[in-house]
Amino acid sequence: MKKVFVKSYGCQMNVYDAERMADMLATEGYSETKAMEEADLVILNTCHIREKAAEKVYSELGRVREMKQEHEAAGRDIRVVVAGCVAQAEGKEILRRAPAVDVVVGPQNYHNLPALLKKSRTDRIVDTEFPIEDKFDHLPAPSKAKTRSRGVSAFLTIQEGCDKFCTFCVVPYTRGAEVSRPVAKILDEALRLADAGVRELTLIGQNVNAYHGEGPDGSIWSLGRLLHRLAEVPGIARLRYTTSHPRDMDEELIAAHRDLPAVMPYLHLPVQSGSDRILDVMNRKHTGDEYRRLIERIRLAQPRLALSSDFIVGFPGETDAEFEETMRLVADVGFASSFSFKYSPRPGTPAADIDAQVPEAVKAERLARLQNLLEMQRQAFNHGTVGQTLDVLLEKPGRHPGQMAGKSPYLQAVQIETDRHAVGEIVTVRITQAGSNSLFGEWVGSGSQAAA
Ligand code: 5AD
Ligand code: SF4
Repeated sequence: MKKVFVKSYGCQMNVYDAERMADMLATEGYSETKAMEEADLVILNTCHIREKAAEKVYSELGRVREMKQEHEAAGRDIRVVVAGCVAQAEGKEILRRAPAVDVVVGPQNYHNLPALLKKSRTDRIVDTEFPIEDKFDHLPAPSKAKTRSRGVSAFLTIQEGCDKFCTFCVVPYTRGAEVSRPVAKILDEALRLADAGVRELTLIGQNVNAYHGEGPDGSIWSLGRLLHRLAEVPGIARLRYTTSHPRDMDEELIAAHRDLPAVMPYLHLPVQSGSDRILDVMNRKHTGDEYRRLIERIRLAQPRLALSSDFIVGFPGETDAEFEETMRLVADVGFASSFSFKYSPRPGTPAADIDAQVPEAVKAERLARLQNLLEMQRQAFNHGTVGQTLDVLLEKPGRHPGQMAGKSPYLQAVQIETDRHAVGEIVTVRITQAGSNSLFGEWVGSGSQAAA
């Protein structure tokens, strides 16, 4: 049997795409391997969101080339594919710079992989056109056993692309315009996942809360309405969605946080900056106070809400005072977890052309201060859960015999002592201790969340 090795960089979207590529190649006779040296087919599923992502891919391709040459000297044929957003952005340039590469395939085209691999026997190929057809229609579903082996928590792509055009971001260029999958297709996939034992669905999309898919009745459904429908799928006890834009948090979605116990009280809602001027130049279309008020409204609907966010420091022209406004917003809102980055200019995006780029040392200093504050908030949030009883979805055996590991509603890793519960069960746990990366707890009952 031929073997495929897939290495994914970047966001959850790529993790999902990598699984779907592996599922499709399984029908072509490839089994997955975790060791690149064993592979007949190497796929790098790349990310282009921040600088050096492309450079990282080229240096990895240097290593792949050496391996390919060794294998070829020994009479083995190795194919190399570059997929994902670097493939989309760089296209032919990859063939020019990386002689080891046989196929370059964009994120909208990977359903063509089997055909591309066949063609690659005689030619080196680039396929980065945005096709009209829906790639998901061409992708086979994985076997039940395969789905089961991937665990009780699954990603489900409901939307791709973005029309927001934040001035720092390459996504609208690499992933294209915003497209929502029809409700019926999402529902089919959810039923299949639930049937294989999945208990938690994380709906994913570059701008997931802009979802506006066609419903079974021909009308357009919002994310709020979709969540209502998915909450009815037998076996699905938890729903999450990521990643969202503040401007797309509509009333129906906020109400879903109040009305649906399956919608977890945890929201990733990137704000990027606390400065109104920077938010404006970023084209985020809201102010710091509008974000604060929005959070108040969501907290009114779901008082247990915990938040996470993305931040960019050193956006072109950001002054010390403007950075302090980001620090103030963080202090005001309070985040359970966060991702923060130094601004990195992306070719082709408007912000990359702004003259007033912030010096690297200033970015580094701001990032260190921001991360320090965010880390304090994360620790405080985790310590704040000690003494609480939380529902925990059991995901796998724990670090030690007699322990199991799972996730709280707030995506915290929780270890509990138990030998009488199974993966996929939701149990109620009293949190006894908070470590730096996980919580410890004791079983107090069966979970209050929707039964299996
Ligand atoms: N520089 C730094 N961070 C960026 N992000 C997106 N583009 C850039 C960039 N050019 C961050 C944003 C976004 C997250 C996925 O990546 O914070 O929310
Ligand atoms: Fe990029 Fe998100 Fe802005 Fe869309 S909303 S352009 S994906 S940062």
